[in-house]
Amino acid sequence: MAKYKIAWLPGDGVGIDVMNAAKTVLDSLNFDAEYIHGDIGWEFWCKEGNPLPERTIKILKETDCALFGAITSKNKSEADKELLPQLQNKGLVYSSPIVTMRQMFDLYSCVRPCKAFPGNPLNYKENIDITVYRENTEGLYAGVEFCPIPEDLRASLEKNNKKMARFNKFPADEVALSTRIMTRKGCERIIRKAFDFARANKKKSVTLVEKPNVLRETGGMMLAAMKRVAAEYPEIEWSEGNIDAMCMWLLKNPDRYHVLVAENMFGDIISDLCAQLVGGLGFAYSGNMGDKYAVFEPTHGSAPKYAGQNKVNPLATILAAMMMIEWLGEKEKAAKIYKAITLIIKEGTAKTYDMGGSTTTSGMADAVVNALKRV
Ligand code: IPM
Ligand code: MG
Repeated sequence: MAKYKIAWLPGDGVGIDVMNAAKTVLDSLNFDAEYIHGDIGWEFWCKEGNPLPERTIKILKETDCALFGAITSKNKSEADKELLPQLQNKGLVYSSPIVTMRQMFDLYSCVRPCKAFPGNPLNYKENIDITVYRENTEGLYAGVEFCPIPEDLRASLEKNNKKMARFNKFPADEVALSTRIMTRKGCERIIRKAFDFARANKKKSVTLVEKPNVLRETGGMMLAAMKRVAAEYPEIEWSEGNIDAMCMWLLKNPDRYHVLVAENMFGDIISDLCAQLVGGLGFAYSGNMGDKYAVFEPTHGSAPKYAGQNKVNPLATILAAMMMIEWLGEKEKAAKIYKAITLIIKEGTAKTYDMGGSTTTSGMADAVVNALKRV
């Protein structure tokens, strides 16, 4: 029996190309795992009305962790149109499988390392080393949304908050409500993860990305949690910045930041910004981690126009696979992958199109495999 059982979720679009590349690299390391393919993505929404079928959830429950490629998702009206005719008008609602997995398995930490590989032509500046800790299960992405807002809820909101009166003047189906719902527990545990990481890796500071001057309740809860948790880590500096200002400061002085922590949506936003500082989505990888299970993924989408063309940069997925094996405890093998990629980028011989070269997806995987023999 293999040492590890891994759910293998390529998804669709370029997800398939980049997962094949990651497999090439894992195989070259003689990584002792059984990979179990799981159906996920747009195809299963259209055919079955569920982009994350029950049988895939079963696989997730029976494995140690998952590697996920990418999937296509579309807005509400397009999603409805592309369903098989017999599934239409049945009230089926599309929800993003990655968001569902995060909530279903309580994968509350989304860890997104953004460290510049020396000499990457895409680096915004050299020496950037930021790790984003994004809360992954609460906030605006929790899915507590209404349109129309039920009548009793409209009345109750107005009764409890006079600011609602302005909205209740509109007809019910002309008002939409998405709630930013957060818990003290959710705030504290992501902040604690960020500080634990900072302590273990001797990082100088942790910065909270929020907007408590406007979002007084949820932002205020996050800031209060930051103050409480930070006090337990006196050797680590802490600060807070508003999401809007942080977008400017990160561009101006990216080297002043080490660990960022944020709730779900602000973490989503700031992690794309940080990814672009160190090479863009071709280098952006993440781990969605809970206390028992984890799903690793490149942060990029499915780029359907490049699907099957052996064109896109697979490094984000190879780095996600690296993070996965590190999480499983294979620290040496993980470190080798990091060193191999560092070497390739320093040498500058293999470059995919986003890096200004013409190396293919599989060509980049082969380059990593070759470099592994030299590190
Ligand atoms: C990400 C993505 C997802 C998110 C989408 C695809 C639902 O943008 O992982 O950052 O918003 O979380
Ligand atoms: Mg995102």
